Order: sequence, then structure tokens, then C-alpha cells
Amino acid sequence: MVMQKGTDIRPATGKLGVLLPGLGAVATTVMAGVEAVRRGFARPVGSLTQMGTIRLGKRTENRTPKITEFVPLSPLSELEFGSWDIFPDDAYEAAAHAGVLSREHLEQVQPFLSTIKPMPGVFEPQWVKKLHGTHVKQGSSKMDLAQQLIADIAQFKKDRGVERCVAVWCGSTEVYQKPGPCHASLAEFEAGLQRSDETIAPSAIYAYACLKSGAPYANGAPNLSLDFPAMFELAKKTRMPIAGKDFKTGQTWMKTIVAPGLKARCLGLTGWYSTNILGNRDGEVLDDPDSFKTKEMSKLGALEYILQPHLYPDLYKEFHHVVRINYYPPRGDNKEGWDNIDIFGWMGYPMQIKIDFLCRDSILAAPMVLDLALFLDLAQRAGMHGIQEWLSFYFKTPMTAPSLYPEHDLFIQLMKLKNTLRYLRGEELITHLGAEYYD
Ligand SMILES: NC(=O)c1ccc[n+]([C@@H]2O[C@H](COP(=O)([O-])OP(=O)(O)OC[C@H]3O[C@@H](n4cnc5c(N)ncnc54)[C@H](O)[C@@H]3O)[C@@H](O)[C@H]2O)c1
Repeated sequence: MVMQKGTDIRPATGKLGVLLPGLGAVATTVMAGVEAVRRGFARPVGSLTQMGTIRLGKRTENRTPKITEFVPLSPLSELEFGSWDIFPDDAYEAAAHAGVLSREHLEQVQPFLSTIKPMPGVFEPQWVKKLHGTHVKQGSSKMDLAQQLIADIAQFKKDRGVERCVAVWCGSTEVYQKPGPCHASLAEFEAGLQRSDETIAPSAIYAYACLKSGAPYANGAPNLSLDFPAMFELAKKTRMPIAGKDFKTGQTWMKTIVAPGLKARCLGLTGWYSTNILGNRDGEVLDDPDSFKTKEMSKLGALEYILQPHLYPDLYKEFHHVVRINYYPPRGDNKEGWDNIDIFGWMGYPMQIKIDFLCRDSILAAPMVLDLALFLDLAQRAGMHGIQEWLSFYFKTPMTAPSLYPEHDLFIQLMKLKNTLRYLRGEELITHLGAEYYD
């Protein structure tokens, strides 16, 4: 990550295009919510950019502005939404299908949502086996498809009078894959696009097209589309900020709150069993073992990194960690996640913690998409490019420099995020040492 200290942030003038590939439950909930806030019948609950504050200076100074007052973020009134999907439903129809929002809320924002029509998507069925898209681009090669996406972005900017764009992937989770030769450098990736290399996923074609078009990019799903050397090179070359991956919304969010608490108290862990039921389209896609594998890998990482078994072998060596996702249509978007946590304390006595989280997936994810869009735009205007580790707060599998392990502890992530904002504005970083109050 390259940062500049001080006040050299270009102002957030003009309209900001927010491109959300994948017009499903999450994307339509973001759009509906932003419009509801703009029209004054909802509050942006869950959004750090809209509701959060930031303490500046010493505790005795009583300076705690809202984040929106502290850093120049694009106002919600200036956001223009665009999307691609492999089905032609407009945002109103897609939101109705997703079943996240009540009929009453949907009616209130229908005129706005109905104007958002997805551009045809780039898709190959082997990457998301449960979907059979009909609204799909045809091209002579993957490079041709990338060029079509680039043309879409240019047209969108022209039509909507947009000055800058950012993109957040809200499309389905693709099947698991590891980086191959095609992902190793930008030259190899572009050669791969030309010959339609089969290891280049559709989501990676979007990431390529957005970065080429000057749109910072975040990946909200766990699939390999942004986190490989070719994209790092492209982000550097185009000076674009990038972030990922996989929104940290429900069970993993809870894990990254509870696990730091266990470690802080040096309580041991013998096992953590997580299971959940969900019945939305995301759940249907994850019912395919190859897509589930991508999600599973993403969900498994957090505990290992937080608990550091190599440093605490007596407490965390070989704990059992199991993650299950069950597709269960009756629940729709309203997921229920159960955690059974087997811990032990003084003299090894066992205890258990049970969490039953009745959450709403897209209600948790939507404000994060908004924050990511606004923060990525801020980063770009501040001259920051490459991996934005300070946005780890939002992700299950935070992207980091290749030599670093990811930081998963939610509280360290939040401190990193807020200190980055302080740093950008030339404010003192907060260490919470506090010794000066007792001199
Ligand atoms: N909601 C959450 O809490 C959460 C948390 C973490 C990650 N995610 C991820 O965010 C993504 C979106 O979640 P959702 O609940 O909105 O899912 P969804 O199934 O409702 O929406 C995904 C949309 O992407 C479209 N799509 C698939 N492939 C595409 C392609 N190549 N191009 C364009 N569109 C494409 C689908 O048609 C669908 O409309 C999923 O990958 C999910 O795993 C969601």
C-alpha cells in the first residue's frame, strides 16, 4: 500500500459511479437502502462511513467528529449505480426475487430501482454450476469480453455524467481454484485473455476491465479474481486501490469478535463447530461442492490467524474447526448460524459457548458495500494504490502483501482503518497508551 501523509486528497466533486457486478440480493439491498436514506425514510444503520465517529487527539480534547465530516467522502446524493448480471431482471425485479426487503420498502423505492437495468454479464457456466444465465455477452475471446466491459463502463460514465467509478463484486461465488501460470504476471494474464485461457474466471475479467477503466475494485466473494500477482501489477500500473476478499458479515464476523476475547483471557479452545442454514440464491450456489469449497477455505482461515497456535500450543494446538453451510429454501435470505465453541479454563476445566445468530445476510452486507465504495474512492483521490490492507475490516480473507499474514481481529482491523484516516488527515495516530494523563 502506498500512502501520502497530509491533506493531499482530491475533493469528491461530481458524481461517483458505483458499479456492482452481480445484481442479486446484496447489490439490490445496497441500492434500495441508499435511495431510502436519500429520500429520508431509512437510516444508514451498519455503515461506518455514514454513522461512525473518529476520536482525534487526546481524550481530554473532546474532538470526535463524524467520519463523513473528517474525510472528504462522496455524498450519497452523488452516487449513480450500475450493474451487470446474467439475468435481465432490473433492480426492482431482482430485489423482489431476492426477498430481502418488505413489500412496503420495495414499493417506496420501486421508481428508482426499476431504472437500474443490468448490462449483459460475462459468464461461463462451469464457474457457477447452479446458474444458467441468459443475459450473457458473446465474444471472440476473453480479451474481447474484457473490451466489451470496458466499453460498458465508458458508456455508463457518459450516460450518467459520472466523473469517477468504483466497483465492488457482488456476483455469485465461483468454483475454487488456485493461482496458475496465467495469474503470475500481467503479460501472462493478458496473453491468457487473448487465447481465452480456461483458468481465467469471469470475475477476473471484470476486475481487469474495471482496473483498466480507472475504477478501484473490491471483491466481495471468496473466489480468485483479484488476489494474484497479475492484478497487483495492473493495480500498480493503473494506480488503482484494490481490496478483498469475501464480505465479513455473519458467522465469521462473530468469530473475529469472540476469538480475540478468548485469546485475550488465555482461555483454551478444543473445537469450534459452525453450521448454518440459508435459502437465498447465494445458498443455492454454495450448495455446489466446488463453490462451497471456495467459501469454506475463506471461512476457515480466521481462527488460525487470530489464535496463533504456534505461539500458544498449550491453548490452541490442533483445535477442531468445522464449517457447514446448508441450503434450506424456507429461510430465504434470513440465515441462521449456530456456533458451538468448546473452550477450557483454569486447570483444564471444559466450558461451552453457544451462539445462535438469526441474521439477515444482505442487511449485514449492504452497508459494507457502501463503505467499501466510498473508502476506495477516497483512497484513489488520496493517491493510494495497490492492496488496501486498512479495509481488512470488511473481509473474511483480507488481502495483504505477499510476505504478510492477514490480520483478522476485528478490533485491530478497526484501529488500522481509523488510524489510516487519521494519517491521511495528518492527525496523531492513536495508540491507546494514555500515559500522558498520569504524568
Ligand atoms: N450476503 C452476505 O452476507 C455475503 C457475505 C459474504 C460474501 N457474499 C458474497 O457476495 C456475493 C453476492 O451475494 P448475494 O447474496 O447477493 O448473491 P445472489 O445470488 O443473490 O446474487 C449474485 C448475483 O450475481 C449474478 N451473477 C453470477 N455470475 C455472474 C457473472 N459472471 N456476471 C454478472 N452477474 C453474475 C447472479 O445472477 C446473481 O444475480 C456472493 O458471492 C456471496 O457469496 C455475501
